Amino acid sequence: MKGIVLAGGAGTRLHPLTRAVSKQLVPIYDKPMIYYPLSVLMMAGIRDVLVITTPHDAPSFVRLLADGSAWGMNITYAKQAEPNGLAEAFIIGADHIGTDTVMLVLGDNIFYGAGFSQTLRRAAESLDGCVLFGYSVADPERYGVGVVDADGKLLSIEEKPAEPKSNLAISGLYLYANDVVAKAAALQPSARGELEITDLNNRYVAEGRAELVDLGAGFAWLDTGTHDSLLQAGQFVQVLEQRQGIRVACLEELALRQGFIDADQCRRLGEEMANTKYGQYIIGVADAAAVTAAAATTAAATAVR
Ligand code: DAU
Repeated sequence: MKGIVLAGGAGTRLHPLTRAVSKQLVPIYDKPMIYYPLSVLMMAGIRDVLVITTPHDAPSFVRLLADGSAWGMNITYAKQAEPNGLAEAFIIGADHIGTDTVMLVLGDNIFYGAGFSQTLRRAAESLDGCVLFGYSVADPERYGVGVVDADGKLLSIEEKPAEPKSNLAISGLYLYANDVVAKAAALQPSARGELEITDLNNRYVAEGRAELVDLGAGFAWLDTGTHDSLLQAGQFVQVLEQRQGIRVACLEELALRQGFIDADQCRRLGEEMANTKYGQYIIGVADAAAVTAAAATTAAATAVR
């Protein structure tokens, strides 16, 4: 499966904060926003990622993520000339997708919760059309909203309805079969002039090929669309990290856990930032993994004897 992070758009709703800096690069506590959606693709085991940005912001993303090889990944870049809609990602990304399936994550979406890796892997295994992730929110009118029957089966999706028929928002994470490329190419712009992801998803719903996974109440899907929600997202990450001594969306740790890099490579990445708590955390993670690996080697050698 290929990955796409869509990180374009004008970010006007966060001006003046995002006048000179791309929205997806603003800090969420201790790391740039794009780390969070990128971590979702990594959790799904995806190494081939296309980052779609504005022509103006592309150099900043390249400076931050480079070719991804530090994390054992392959990150490439494409430009979206104008914010023509989320579904344009599949037209711009057609070559990147090739004959594969694809996971799209919006560059401003933050997901956090136990068992998320398994949820993603299960979704990828059952993929036959598209998989969407729903989340109950207090303000559904700000999102794509699922219209569901009494059994929770998805009947259609409405984009930012004035009177939502449910409180089930469709989050910015989508898995698709390869026919998404053809389906996106056949879309017509909406009344607001965009190729709408909701129109695309409704095609799959109409074909009976859209699966809805409810992320559930114990999960966090955080909003970054307003100055308040942006600050709250950062505070959420801060509280979790300080209380539990963990890191959310630590790409170096994820790369190690996914087997994209080994403990030595991970340690070197930490050493580059050893003057920060983030870097020290990575060194700790790498050292713990090296000890575990050494113990496993010893146990295997003993078993052979
Ligand atoms: O966050 C989930 C929601 O994302 C969904 O529930 C909606 O169905 C979906 O339409 C989208 O709604 P938004 O109002 O959040 O879309 P927005 O136009 O803000 O774009 C989302 C992100 O994608 C944002 O970071 C900018 C970027 N973007 C947007 C457009 C329209 C692009 O990179 N290119 C684009 O053409």
